[in-house]
Amino acid sequence: MNLKGRSFLKLLDYTPDEIRYLLDLSKDFKNKKKNNVEHKYLKGKNIVLLFEKTSTRTRCAFEVAGHDLGMGVTYLEPGSSQMGKKESIEDTAKVLGRMYDGIEYRGFAQSNVEILAKNAGVPVWNGLTTEFHPTQMLADLMTIEENFGHLEGLNLVFCGDGRNNVANSLLVACAKMGINFTLASPNSLRPDSDLVEICENIAKSSHAQIRFTDDIMAATKNADVIYTDVWVSMGEADEVWNERIKLLKRFQVTKEVMANANSNAIFLHCLPSFHDLKTSIGKEIYEKFGLREMEVTDEVFQSNNSKVFDEAENRMHTIKAVMYATLSDYHE
Ligand code: CP
Ligand code: NVA
Repeated sequence: MNLKGRSFLKLLDYTPDEIRYLLDLSKDFKNKKKNNVEHKYLKGKNIVLLFEKTSTRTRCAFEVAGHDLGMGVTYLEPGSSQMGKKESIEDTAKVLGRMYDGIEYRGFAQSNVEILAKNAGVPVWNGLTTEFHPTQMLADLMTIEENFGHLEGLNLVFCGDGRNNVANSLLVACAKMGINFTLASPNSLRPDSDLVEICENIAKSSHAQIRFTDDIMAATKNADVIYTDVWVSMGEADEVWNERIKLLKRFQVTKEVMANANSNAIFLHCLPSFHDLKTSIGKEIYEKFGLREMEVTDEVFQSNNSKVFDEAENRMHTIKAVMYATLSDYHE
């Protein structure tokens, strides 16, 4: 397996074998970290993290993974580079590619990260766009495998905004890795039909089943993994909250939803999550709409079935694997 020089822009660009390789590499890096085995394999290299949206996990995962691998890391916070206002994405890519060995991008259109990759001459990693969140998927698959020992044949249900970056990416990840994917969402919040068609074709080889329903109880029966995400994503207007709450309230992951799933089902969420009133947006929504918790109840979020913090930790191990695989000369 040789992924040197490849960008990581969306899971659609990777074969199931390549994804499997990245997951195995992630497991290896996690073991090394837990056993304090130094792994500065990319000493002397430098990476830049280009963020047009805020982040906790993705930014910190790239920084820590970069440092663990021995690399220099530059963080460009939203609004702090010339890109967009005074310099095109193409020119920015060419400049950064002259100085850095790899570029992480978090921002808006998927086409932005594709343009960066086309012009940089070094690997570009997608740290979230409006359409996809591929590094999140590796962490999710790793967490699922840690809990069930395998991926193929499991039933994953995504409840909520079925056309956001995380839902789109889960559809692809499941189709590739043979996980049955069910979306529980209103009909108006389903993935783009072109993406569905592509994934249905991929699923023919992996034997994954893909289902769409607006009945959360029918969807979650026999579920192994129940996944949700925020109802309004970064970059969307505040005005959409009202309509989104109306549409998605009945897709909230509650104790009853979890009880409807298999007894050993796990709960996942990419985070950050609105499950209490300890955030400013959470409080604002409570004052306006009277909701104390949104996409998941606090009870489910805090339960033993919830693996969200393992999932968050796994962002770091999996991002390390992606950087190592695409930047290093040596591969087993
Ligand atoms: N899950 C995720 O991408 O989190 P951040 O927005 O904190 O990076
Ligand atoms: N769908 C969310 C994911 C955050 C990690 C967003 O784009 O805001």
